[in-house]
Amino acid sequence: MNIEGVKISEILERYPAKPEYLIFLLQDIQKQYGFISSETMEQICDRTGVPLTQAYSVATFYQSFRLEPKGEHEIKVCLGTACHLKGGPRIVNELERRLGVKAGETTSDMKFTFDTVNCLGACAIAPVIVIDEEYHPNMTAQKLEKQIKTLGQDMTEVSEVLGHA
Ligand code: FES
Repeated sequence: MNIEGVKISEILERYPAKPEYLIFLLQDIQKQYGFISSETMEQICDRTGVPLTQAYSVATFYQSFRLEPKGEHEIKVCLGTACHLKGGPRIVNELERRLGVKAGETTSDMKFTFDTVNCLGACAIAPVIVIDEEYHPNMTAQKLEKQIKTLGQDMTEVSEVLGHA
């Protein structure tokens, strides 16, 4: 695998071939490719000597590691206490209904990855969502649809394509 000029093998060789470097390798691969494929995970395990099941346990324990590719746009909905009380679950339901995916999933057209997170440290402007690293305060279903449209994608069309209108 070779994306943006950096081969997996180049990343694997950055660290000594020892189990204690597993997390460093997972972090570097994730940073470079945005996710850790099953093929890459096997290469990491071959290199470090960590059993595959143990490596997956580590990767799934830390929420920051992704085992599937991300969509073009990433939407994170806060479900911390303040956001939960101010309508976060309604935003989640609206996204699930319109995109046709559950939290943690990516639409089949690879346009959107949607996930929930705990407190983003911006409780005063709850409910908060983050689209492509940009915070959007006091979110409502209407505002959400507008934001998505500004990304050049009509969620209604997405919904129709996916058969969830
Ligand atoms: S609970 Fe959502 S920002 Fe704090």
